[in-house]
Amino acid sequence: MMLSFAGKRVAISGGAIGFGREMARQFQALGAEVHVCDIRAEAMQDLSEAGIATAVVDLCDRQAAAGWIDAVSRQGARAIDVLINNAGGVAGQQGKAIAQVSDAEWDSVIDINLNATFALSRAVAPLMKQAGQGKIINISSGAALKASLTGVQAYCAAKHAVLGLTRQLAHELGPFGINVNAVAPGFVFTNDATRKQWENFGEARQQQLLQGIALRRLGSVEDIAHAAVFLASDLSSFINGQIISVDGGS
Ligand SMILES: NC(=O)c1ccc[n+]([C@@H]2O[C@H](COP(=O)([O-])OP(=O)(O)OC[C@H]3O[C@@H](n4cnc5c(N)ncnc54)[C@H](O)[C@@H]3O)[C@@H](O)[C@H]2O)c1
Repeated sequence: MMLSFAGKRVAISGGAIGFGREMARQFQALGAEVHVCDIRAEAMQDLSEAGIATAVVDLCDRQAAAGWIDAVSRQGARAIDVLINNAGGVAGQQGKAIAQVSDAEWDSVIDINLNATFALSRAVAPLMKQAGQGKIINISSGAALKASLTGVQAYCAAKHAVLGLTRQLAHELGPFGINVNAVAPGFVFTNDATRKQWENFGEARQQQLLQGIALRRLGSVEDIAHAAVFLASDLSSFINGQIISVDGGS
């Protein structure tokens, strides 16, 4: 069976680097019209040159997030077929004792991981309902199922909350032909922060982490994008409200 997204419109948040960038590349290769937004303009330049529609949006601004969905859906007659809530991360933070965490630090992580997922989903849901179909894929984390390797409390809390939102929206939107699922990636090198984090673990902890993965390797951006492609495809049409761990078996 050949997978094709020809004629489909796919919107990916946080597509400048890492998983989002690889997803954009894979969906485009499978024929989709791909739209990406991110806060980093420069990092998206080559994506635009490759024919991917890009927009600079600060997703912590919920109005701006909704404005992006509106702008994408107004281009041509098509609805948005697939929304991938991928933007997230630890907002440049490192784990520290909860007593040292400021309100601003807590809020910034909740904003990009949870509130942006809420804002984009809220904006796209009526459009997908009108179209009678759609797929929403939330990129959560292994940190939604256990404590986070990052030690960032807000990150762990936000990724757990994204799962709750996934399950609730699956029930709310399922009757309208919309599937809502989540992907929970294990640790993957995507940026300087993840590389630094791995270095900081030191040799012994790195080996311990690898021994804790059944397949004895870290995942790749390709591994995570493949799960998103599967969940966006017709192959997963009866999968709803689920979380797929892509972590090599932990
Ligand atoms: N890399 C990992 O090991 C890992 C593991 C589990 C889950 N995740 C999750 O996967 C997703 C992608 O992670 P990643 O490692 O590829 O990249 P990342 O976590 O560094 O960030 C993803 C993208 O979000 C964008 N972004 C951040 N703040 C934004 C804002 N305010 N407005 C718009 N865009 C913003 C970034 O610029 C980046 O391109 C994130 O949700 C992350 O939490 C990552």
